[in-house]
Amino acid sequence: MFARCLWGVRFFSQAALSTDAAAQALKTPAGAIKYPFFVPRNSNGNLPVYTDIRNGGTRILVSIRNVDGNASVLAEELASTLFAPTSREAQRIKIKTNHNHVVISGGRWKQEVVEWLKAKGF
Ligand SMILES: *[C@@H]1O[C@H](CO)[C@@H](O)[C@H](O)[C@H]1NC(C)=O
Repeated sequence: MFARCLWGVRFFSQAALSTDAAAQALKTPAGAIKYPFFVPRNSNGNLPVYTDIRNGGTRILVSIRNVDGNASVLAEELASTLFAPTSREAQRIKIKTNHNHVVISGGRWKQEVVEWLKAKGF
């Protein structure tokens, strides 16, 4: 708990000085960054959400790359809130982490993931 708080403080001061995304996050109604993870925008100013088509088109992976902080928490929050719990999508979605990447399988959901991150202020 203490370590998490320390990390949050360090992150807050760095991000507040260095990125537009953080500036946007600061303007969310909650008024402060409240997640133990951060998703920096890429050099084009876009959220780093990518679609990979595997296995001749039968397997679609959506990944969020280069997550700062605890990517497992991001994965858990996505799994529980990206789709309504009773929806078909919620039954199909699978989310894993691979180092600082979050990998989502089960559907072509890049746009949903981007909107979810934007709604969180990233
Ligand atoms: C990241 O979050 C998970 C789930 O809350 C937790 O179990 C894990 O200890 C955290 N890892 C770090 C490095 O804080």
